[in-house]
Amino acid sequence: MKVIQRIAELRHALRQQDRVAFVPTMGGLHAGHLALVHTARAHGAPVVASIFVNPLQFGANEDFDRYPRTLDEDIAALRAQNVVDILFAPTVAELYPEPQGFRVQPPDDLGNILEGEFRPGFFGGVTTVVLKLLSCVQPRIAVFGKKDYQQLLVVRAMCRQFALPTEIVACETAREPDGLAMSSRNRYLDAAERAEAPRLYRELAALRERIHAGARDFPALEAQAAQALAAAGWQPEYVAIRRQEDLGRPDGGAAPLVALAAARLGTTRLIDNVEI
Ligand code: PAF
Repeated sequence: MKVIQRIAELRHALRQQDRVAFVPTMGGLHAGHLALVHTARAHGAPVVASIFVNPLQFGANEDFDRYPRTLDEDIAALRAQNVVDILFAPTVAELYPEPQGFRVQPPDDLGNILEGEFRPGFFGGVTTVVLKLLSCVQPRIAVFGKKDYQQLLVVRAMCRQFALPTEIVACETAREPDGLAMSSRNRYLDAAERAEAPRLYRELAALRERIHAGARDFPALEAQAAQALAAAGWQPEYVAIRRQEDLGRPDGGAAPLVALAAARLGTTRLIDNVEI
């Protein structure tokens, strides 16, 4: 696996490649990321992964400074998989050599709800860097995890609306044995919080069971799950039952649903979702 920092060198290494499979990440790699690179390998070659902690997608009071930066460990973990050909790890100065005045503006109905409501500017920052990374790598496919369900939909819609030649492939959420969704931010949790953290998934899974059993009062189900989290010491931001296709509110039809949640446990903000 070659580690490349410069855009010009990356372009040179990928010249005449038209089956590139790409996995963008912010590093702090865990088994979920490793599953993404194996999915990429199943869809194309060469496989390019990127590690870049994107300042544009962090709000002023968010965790940009403390976000895990573990490049040496990440390189070793990727090398051990033996499926990644190039790791693109640009510096901030390489990717943003001048102030990034041109930005992607996601549509309000997808970009300003749920995560976008609680993290203003987040999806603008994500789509701007993803567009730029896609421009650098020019992959045929790119792999995104369902753990960041809304991000997956936002990026897919961006590629569709800008007619980008990259297909977005979704990968299932990787979970710890107790159900906790794998996340680079799990390492912020202390021992007591780590023991408590799987409750987020348990509440979403219970919600899915109630819907499978016929419950249809979605606002009541959302409120019950949020209350259960609050009673256990969490600060829930949202619990929402939405259509999988566009994250619109269910309208009583047969459209497949997804239950999504974000909540704070101590100083750590966790998100998760289950498809229904
Ligand atoms: O999901 C992430 O790790 C980031 O949002 C992404 C897609 C790499 C963009 O910075």
